[in-house]
Amino acid sequence: LVCYLVGKYLEPFSLSLEKLQEVSAQLQKDMTRGLGKHTHHRASVKMLPTFVRATPDGTEKGDFLALDLGGTNFRVLHVRVMEEEQKVLKMDSQICAIPREIMLGTGEQLFDHIAECLSEFLDSQKLKRQTLPLGFTFSFPCEQKEIDKSILIRWTKGFNCSGVEGEDVVKLLKEAIHRRGDYDIGSVAMVNDTVGTMMSCGYWDRSCEIGMIIGTGTNACYMEEMKNVKRVEGEDGRMCINTEWGGFGDDGSLGDILTEFDKVVDKTSINPGVHIFEKMIRKFETRFISEIEEPDSGLENAQQILTKLNLKWDLVDARVVRLVCDTISSRSARLCAAALATIANRIRLNRGLDYLKTTVGVDGTVYRKHPNFSEELQAAVRLLAPKCDIKFLVSEDGSGKGAAMVTAVAQRLALQSR
Ligand code: BG6
Ligand code: GLC
Repeated sequence: LVCYLVGKYLEPFSLSLEKLQEVSAQLQKDMTRGLGKHTHHRASVKMLPTFVRATPDGTEKGDFLALDLGGTNFRVLHVRVMEEEQKVLKMDSQICAIPREIMLGTGEQLFDHIAECLSEFLDSQKLKRQTLPLGFTFSFPCEQKEIDKSILIRWTKGFNCSGVEGEDVVKLLKEAIHRRGDYDIGSVAMVNDTVGTMMSCGYWDRSCEIGMIIGTGTNACYMEEMKNVKRVEGEDGRMCINTEWGGFGDDGSLGDILTEFDKVVDKTSINPGVHIFEKMIRKFETRFISEIEEPDSGLENAQQILTKLNLKWDLVDARVVRLVCDTISSRSARLCAAALATIANRIRLNRGLDYLKTTVGVDGTVYRKHPNFSEELQAAVRLLAPKCDIKFLVSEDGSGKGAAMVTAVAQRLALQSR
């Protein structure tokens, strides 16, 4: 009886292939709207230009600093890119905690904290006297005017610092560094984590032209033809577009697949009505889901987690929790597959190809740690994008390294155009 009742609740979570095809077709429309000169203001999928116009070609070199804010960890990095030993990259990094009161405090407190972490790191690396260029992975939706001017549209993923929305994040960072006065930084390149991931994987695999994150949040970027990016001047070449697919459905377009539970998750969040698609991919701590679905120890893990959450449980509850996790992660993998297939199909059609071979750089705790999420996602993508051969490359060192690569590529392009 329990199985029957739970099954009834879980039914709306199973999405057929036809349904996923509809989701993909809707996303395709929304992406076109997001790119349009006159339509992007109203678009739920923002399709933000990133001003990244090329992926690495292997000749980049130099020393760079990088910051990586917006995932589970905040990291500060020193990256050395060496041209002569192609594909050799030296990297030192340090994780800094961002306390909850800072996540919800003022912008000034947040950027002072970031500047302080960077100062301690420079001390430990004996780099304080140098003025190095800095790549800043800032994993929130930003309207980028140039590579070093980036206005925060809104906070997501539990951050809510006052006085930052609508402001230029590069300016806030530089002001915090100048307030300290004990070190300086060179030119800054701002990147979303999807872009950082694509660029760091692009260093190893030149055909990497999509970046995808499935972790605390979900999002993807890809290389779009400039002639389709109507909001930026110029027709030639390509530009990386940060889709911000987490906002898909914010205009009600996913209404027919939202369950009563999705509505509760949205209503009780700190940003109701915003990032509807993203909220369909996560809610319960992602590491719990992975532990609960572990083939051997899953049931035992479920019992421990329920106890940790101060919930009373019996064996049936633990089994039910496992079934629920399984169903929700499966829906999540299939929805991400639909979204990724949309991008791959779009790139193929953009280039007039019968068949596209491409690589997607991926990161995020859900993709990395869940026992079968990646397999399920890949299987569904094969069905939804049958004319695309997609290789999945998990980013090895996070996206901070990619932010350094963006800075390096920008330097290379500047030198070449002299
Ligand atoms: C990290 C990247 O490895 O993955 C971050 O360096 C990114 O930039 C993060 O935001 C996403 O994963 P999660 O699960 O920590 O949100
Ligand atoms: C959220 C952010 C987006 C980021 C994603 C993954 O959706 O809005 O910018 O890429 O999380 O971290």
